[in-house]
Amino acid sequence: MSGITGKVIAITGASDGIGAATAELLAARGARVVLGARRADRLAQVAHRITGAGGEAAFLPTDVTRRDELAALTALARSRFGRLDVLVSNAGIGPISPFADLHVDEWDAMIDVNLKGVLHGIAAALPIFREQGAGHFVNVVSVAGLAVRPGMAVYGATKNAVRTISEGLRQESAGAYRVTVVSPGFVRTDFTDTIPNAELRASLAAVKDRIAIPAASIGEAIAYAIAQPPAVDVNDIAVRATAQD
Ligand SMILES: NC(=O)c1ccc[n+]([C@@H]2O[C@H](COP(=O)([O-])OP(=O)(O)OC[C@H]3O[C@@H](n4cnc5c(N)ncnc54)[C@H](OP(=O)(O)O)[C@@H]3O)[C@@H](O)[C@H]2O)c1
Repeated sequence: MSGITGKVIAITGASDGIGAATAELLAARGARVVLGARRADRLAQVAHRITGAGGEAAFLPTDVTRRDELAALTALARSRFGRLDVLVSNAGIGPISPFADLHVDEWDAMIDVNLKGVLHGIAAALPIFREQGAGHFVNVVSVAGLAVRPGMAVYGATKNAVRTISEGLRQESAGAYRVTVVSPGFVRTDFTDTIPNAELRASLAAVKDRIAIPAASIGEAIAYAIAQPPAVDVNDIAVRATAQD
């Protein structure tokens, strides 16, 4: 299947930010979207906006740290829409801090959501893609994995781990599925609000206010990769503010 129209696309972290904007953009272009995140009320609002605009959407409260909940999300795609064409693993958290602050629980949480959450998505979708003989993994990583900055090492490490996993997944695909990583720069979402270190939170919020790009810019990059003909696999896209260093 070429293009976006009619594709069944599951998106994690679809209750807010990049995930919600991507879901709305893809649905507006004819995709049938399946939305996952923890907050059911926010998912319902996104789904309501999509169906109100004439699109098709289903949603299921999903915590990506739970393997069974990813399996339930991909199963919903099949039971509601008959197949799964794309899994966008977008759910992520960034409670970044300098190592000296010893926010060890946040290090664990970033590994659980940003890294293990993506692996749970692969485990849920891979058998479906192999059975169908087609499918597409889109993993949202970060430019923070491309250039290491103080305070961002654990976060960047989780994103670079997903980059490595994605390349391995691609090499093992034998033509059965496509794999794309998308690396956003500063995007205008609430992502920085959970940074525990006040100084770091304030400095990144100031940069965000100055240069951040809209969440839909990342949705456009994801849409570009999905829309390519089946024989074309767009593997790696970075999307930054023009003014970002
Ligand atoms: N904003 C940026 O500047 C930026 C830059 C580079 C990369 N990114 C990446 O882009 C992705 C989306 O970030 P965003 O900016 O859109 O952030 P956001 O507005 O904070 O949205 C994060 C999304 O992830 C979901 N989420 C968090 N923990 C989850 C869990 N355990 N299970 C399921 N869903 C979970 C949240 O939903 P619930 O709370 O409802 O679960 C929410 O929908 C992340 O992977 C992030 O690392 C963002």
